Amino acid sequence: MKRDTRVAHAGLHPDKHQGAVNPPVYHVSTVTYDTVGEMKAAEKRPFEGMRYGRFGTPTSFALEEAVCELEGGHRSISTASGLAAITGTLTALLKAGDHLLVTDSVYFPTRRFCADHLSRWGIETTFYDPLIGAGIAELIRPQTRLVFVESPGSLTFEVQDIPAIAEQAHARGALVAMDNTWATPLFFRPFEKGVDVSIQAATKFIVGHSDAMLGVITCKDQALWQRIKASVAAAGVCAGAEEVYLGLRGLRTLAVRLRQHQESGLKLARFVQSRPEVARVMHPALPGDPGHEIWKRDFTGAPGLFGFELKRGSNAAVEAMLDGLEHFSLGYSWGGFESLIIPTTGGVHRSATKVAAGPTIRIHTGLEDPDDLIADLARGFERLAAGSD
Ligand SMILES: Cc1ncc(COP(=O)(O)O)c(C=O)c1O
Repeated sequence: MKRDTRVAHAGLHPDKHQGAVNPPVYHVSTVTYDTVGEMKAAEKRPFEGMRYGRFGTPTSFALEEAVCELEGGHRSISTASGLAAITGTLTALLKAGDHLLVTDSVYFPTRRFCADHLSRWGIETTFYDPLIGAGIAELIRPQTRLVFVESPGSLTFEVQDIPAIAEQAHARGALVAMDNTWATPLFFRPFEKGVDVSIQAATKFIVGHSDAMLGVITCKDQALWQRIKASVAAAGVCAGAEEVYLGLRGLRTLAVRLRQHQESGLKLARFVQSRPEVARVMHPALPGDPGHEIWKRDFTGAPGLFGFELKRGSNAAVEAMLDGLEHFSLGYSWGGFESLIIPTTGGVHRSATKVAAGPTIRIHTGLEDPDDLIADLARGFERLAAGSD
């Protein structure tokens, strides 16, 4: 089956829902039983079937089945947000005394959770250079249980050599968990590259319409699924019924949306690259990008989320550039149908690597006509140049 066909049909079982194409939204907390015997039997298999709203419903099972099939994993777990999927994975797989390796380019709230919260529970984090590749071996200690990767970084876009990292981690008894939100399962197949647990902030491209918070964790095997499911269920961070439905609904158009995000994003990136005010564009699909070769080897596409560094520009000039844009909103997110832009200068937190010297900006390319977006950006660059004189 080709990828687009999978996206259209994964997790759907109309025969179980009186022929309805989509599963109904189960609004449920309480599940009742006819007999004590049935109740006791259900308790023996706590995470199978519908037992209590928090543990899952036929709607969340459908989303989990669909995302799992696309990621190419064994089984998935839906959560209240992308961050809940990340923290749920970390807390399930780590305990006091363990050591964790996290890419320096990681999404900032992930970094903060490791540095400020896991540390209080006796779990030590070392942040590593995202370009470390097989060199990760030197940082792995006897207590290292997990290597966390995010590729590319969602502000700085370094592409990680995940097969090399996974090989070294596995040889030393550590697992690999990945934030795969940028690529989605359509542009990166994590389990074929050595990842053990793949995380989607489904809030972004899977939901795709900027109207719901949702996360999905996908595991390589049943033992990992059991461990993470038990921990996530114990913490109570289940996804809401409507959010799960919006995730399923968004998923059906993921392939066509990503194609357009990719095409328009590349058009914008090439335009930005042509501007004299720009020092470099951070977009792995552009030949010449430092991550291009690994991206070409491991990924099958690039959505329209990319960054760029300016040669110069005062805060006031950058603000004039961004404030006056007509078709880009200022917003700390991405993955929806609408274009977004943010200044990222000062927002990049590093301990193992360096922050860019010049002002930096990130663009999420939405589904508007790319020519309108380019004309808007061109006017923005004129404001930047006028403000920098
Ligand atoms: C790369 C990445 N991972 C995870 C998340 C967290 O997702 P959520 O906002 O659903 O908690 C985000 C959100 O911006 C993100 O950019």
